[in-house]
Amino acid sequence: MFNKLLKRNTDLVLENVDRSVLISNEEVPAHIAIIMDGNGRWAKKRSLPRVAGHREGMKTVRKVTKLANELGVSVLTLYAFSTENWKRPKIEVDFLMRLPEEFLTTFLPELIEENVRVEMMGYHQNLPMHTLKAIKKAKEATKDNTGLVLNFALNYGSRAEIVDAVKDIATQVAAGTLDICDINEDLISGGLMTKGLPEPDLLIRTSGEVRLSNFMLWQLAYTEFWFTETLWPDFNEDSLLEAIENYQKRNRRYGGLKGDEVK
Ligand code: FPP
Repeated sequence: MFNKLLKRNTDLVLENVDRSVLISNEEVPAHIAIIMDGNGRWAKKRSLPRVAGHREGMKTVRKVTKLANELGVSVLTLYAFSTENWKRPKIEVDFLMRLPEEFLTTFLPELIEENVRVEMMGYHQNLPMHTLKAIKKAKEATKDNTGLVLNFALNYGSRAEIVDAVKDIATQVAAGTLDICDINEDLISGGLMTKGLPEPDLLIRTSGEVRLSNFMLWQLAYTEFWFTETLWPDFNEDSLLEAIENYQKRNRRYGGLKGDEVK
């Protein structure tokens, strides 16, 4: 619905959220990346086990995916499990590994209906078969969809990803199939798991933590950051709109100058 409105109007009033927010259609971020943090604290505040926070966080994933798709966002990358998260207690890791399956089992029909394409970036090794199977099924069922790309970062680590890209380049140089002079930014970008995706325009991290935690270190070079105290299970449509509104007021210069500044 919003996509159609976006095409027609310069500005769009979204009325199906708690407060009406005016967001400009011209600057909807093409790629939003989110570090979903604060599930454990959300649960602790309610004297619940940490995993209850993760389950509630899954509901937020659904809300945010739906709105991002309606707004015409092209890619939504969600940091669901890092290569460092294996250090957590086994009971929590096992629960987190069940969540993609639970999410996709519950919502796959709706995602198909909404034209969302499911993707995953991360290392397959160490992921349980049932997790991989659920993702594979969702990818297959949505592969021809042309709406939002819902990209789960699962067993993902940015430094490992960069090391792998460097190794691949070094192998090609050693084999004589690549000249050192031809190593450039595009080549490195093309060796990362985000190959083919636009770089994130907006990074959101919830829960008041202000760090990147090994997330998309290369890809975030010119991304606008939005940090909020809101815990991920409490993040909602309003929160996303607030982040986008703020993003739209930013002056992205990519290291250069704009308009009047060139004097
Ligand atoms: C960080 O919060 C969150 C995670 C490590 C897991 C994120 C996963 C979800 C939100 C659910 C994912 C859903 C799908 C569909 C894959 P934390 O546990 O570190 O919170 P804390 O800092 O308050 O302890």
